[in-house]
Amino acid sequence: MFLQPRTATYSAQDQLVWKILFDRQRALLHRRAAPAFSQGLEQLGLGRNTIPDLAELSAEVQQLSGWQLLPYGQPVSQALFLERLAQRQFPVMTRLRTMRDFDFSPQPDLFHDLFGHVPMLLDAGFADFLHQLGLAALALAPHDAVGRQQLWALYFFTAEFGLVQHEGQPRLYGAGLLSSAGEIHHCIDAGTPRLEFDLTQVLQTTVRDSRFQNQYFVLPNLAVLADCVAALSAAGAWRLAA
Ligand SMILES: [Fe+2]
Repeated sequence: MFLQPRTATYSAQDQLVWKILFDRQRALLHRRAAPAFSQGLEQLGLGRNTIPDLAELSAEVQQLSGWQLLPYGQPVSQALFLERLAQRQFPVMTRLRTMRDFDFSPQPDLFHDLFGHVPMLLDAGFADFLHQLGLAALALAPHDAVGRQQLWALYFFTAEFGLVQHEGQPRLYGAGLLSSAGEIHHCIDAGTPRLEFDLTQVLQTTVRDSRFQNQYFVLPNLAVLADCVAALSAAGAWRLAA
């Protein structure tokens, strides 16, 4: 119901916001982003000069990874979002943040979705993890609120705020980090806990939607995500930690 026309129009001010955000995040992410993200960004040819055309980008992503990008004018519910993942479709907000929300956009926006999420869809293993999460959500019983909450926590502390080891250093791959200078500075602060990824602990950790996270979880490698889904699916429930 919130689907937008395939082409959205952006003002000169929007184009300026995109350009400044793009330049700043690229600089900030140098040697901080996970290789999978940097490779995806490169492969897609996302650039600073023009806000990408969503329909064209979706066609390109579909050719490269089998995923489609779906434009939305308003935030989608968790249930709908996960339903889309199960179809290998990624919802993209067409709204772009303003200068006022430059450092941290409390709601997902075009920059968060396109710059933060879409490059990671080109990593086949990571994209499959998202697909499996979507399928797992569909398989949950309607009344299983605990299972739903834990599944969302796993999504949240990986796809939104995850880090992964690379050459002995934690690198960022979560879109909430990749697209937010404020969250990056908070995450890399010496006082912020960056914990070794532990599935049981992740499932029990509270999701904070509109503020910086209290802690982050660092995967030894992205392949561990497939193991998480397999372990939880084999257990027949998303409530190992309950
Ligand atoms: Fe997101």
